Amino acid sequence: MSTVAIIGAGYVGVPLAQVFADAGHSVLLVDVVQERVDELNRGESYIEDVPSEVLKEHVDAGRLKATTDYDELTGAEAILVALPTPLSDQREPDLTILLEATEQIAPRLQQGQLVVLESTTYPGTTRERVAPLLEASGLKAGEGFHLAFSPERVDPGREDWTTKTTPKIVGGLTQECTRRAVELYASAVDEVVEVSSPEAAELTKLLENIFRSVNIALVNELAQLCDRMGLDIWEVVDAAATKPFGFMRFEPGPGLGGHCLPVDPFYLSWKARQFDFYTEFIELAGKVNQNMPYFCRSLISQALNHGAQRSLSGSKVLVLGVAYKADVSDTRESPALKLIELLRKAGADVAYHDPHVPQLRQFGLSSQPLEPGAYDCVTVVTAHNSIDYEQLVDDAKLVVDFRNATGRNGGDKTKVWKL
Ligand SMILES: NC(=O)c1ccc[n+]([C@@H]2O[C@H](COP(=O)([O-])OP(=O)(O)OC[C@H]3O[C@@H](n4cnc5c(N)ncnc54)[C@H](O)[C@@H]3O)[C@@H](O)[C@H]2O)c1
Repeated sequence: MSTVAIIGAGYVGVPLAQVFADAGHSVLLVDVVQERVDELNRGESYIEDVPSEVLKEHVDAGRLKATTDYDELTGAEAILVALPTPLSDQREPDLTILLEATEQIAPRLQQGQLVVLESTTYPGTTRERVAPLLEASGLKAGEGFHLAFSPERVDPGREDWTTKTTPKIVGGLTQECTRRAVELYASAVDEVVEVSSPEAAELTKLLENIFRSVNIALVNELAQLCDRMGLDIWEVVDAAATKPFGFMRFEPGPGLGGHCLPVDPFYLSWKARQFDFYTEFIELAGKVNQNMPYFCRSLISQALNHGAQRSLSGSKVLVLGVAYKADVSDTRESPALKLIELLRKAGADVAYHDPHVPQLRQFGLSSQPLEPGAYDCVTVVTAHNSIDYEQLVDDAKLVVDFRNATGRNGGDKTKVWKL
């Protein structure tokens, strides 16, 4: 068994570390946040999918260690890079974190080491941006060291498919790079799928995310049409989903959230422009999805207007669920944040309740006890499973539900407004 270093102890890096440690490898997690490193070395996991007991067992057995010291990379057979790849303020790929870290790896790179990029990015990043920086080491990619791309497909909070059981795509710079990477991943995950190049692997990940973004946009657009036509989008989606072939269920909602879907597709549209190509599906999906919090604000306004003879301005609104999806604590790019901003701008007095998110510092808010009757309107933005929605409907004066959480659980429907 080898020593596997993972750079970036986040939502991707920590589950990956667990999978390699479970398989018996020695794992070194490298991160720049000292507090996070100390926490991990105490066996405390801040990632919901990785139980602290399991992490602690690995730490105590000496199989897992975290550090801020890049010098420790020299002892690893493989270096996996799981760093953030955000968009800039101009909504263009911002590879600063990744490239600066790569510059840190280069002077420590050892003959024969395998480097694998796991961060989601545009086709060409591994070959055009990462390889040249690593070659500053004096070693040539594909000869002195091995280089591959292998996208992470983790879906935080999901239990049926995990980092271990989800097939892993691998594309190396050379056949030998691919072979080395396949061999490493096959020692820890259930299935490895080889593709012919890093570019094919990079685009595979983007296709997966764009597929979701476009399909969510499609149902979001239909949800807006259903509102005008007086139809229930949830009934229509449920009915369509009974078709056993040729249809895949996607649900409407208040907008896209998380680190991936609102960001990744634009990595491809940016790259496509270098080829005089405009990725119109991506732009259109982005436009529809980004409009959803605005549409949701107007639904809340209408519900207050018709259901309580109140204006949004001056009303007390409780946002129920602010994480970007159910049963997780991650609020990155959560549509709830945009909605809170819009509701405040419209003059509403906004509070929130989320059992997974104790504070929203950017708004100076902390999670309030769930007392639905204390508000003019409660809006279900993220449907955490721990909430009793039937009780919520009973206790609230007015409910605006963007997730059909109340639809599934019964209760007095006359005071419920749905997307
Ligand atoms: N979160 C997901 O569900 C998910 C799923 C699939 C793919 N991805 C992709 O994986 C990549 C990582 O995402 P994530 O969600 O794990 O990010 P994250 O923000 O959770 O974790 C990144 C970690 O990197 C650390 N870091 C920052 N700069 C560093 C540096 N120079 N050296 C070492 N560590 C540094 C941060 O402190 C943080 O702990 C992104 O490209 C993302 O798009 C994420």
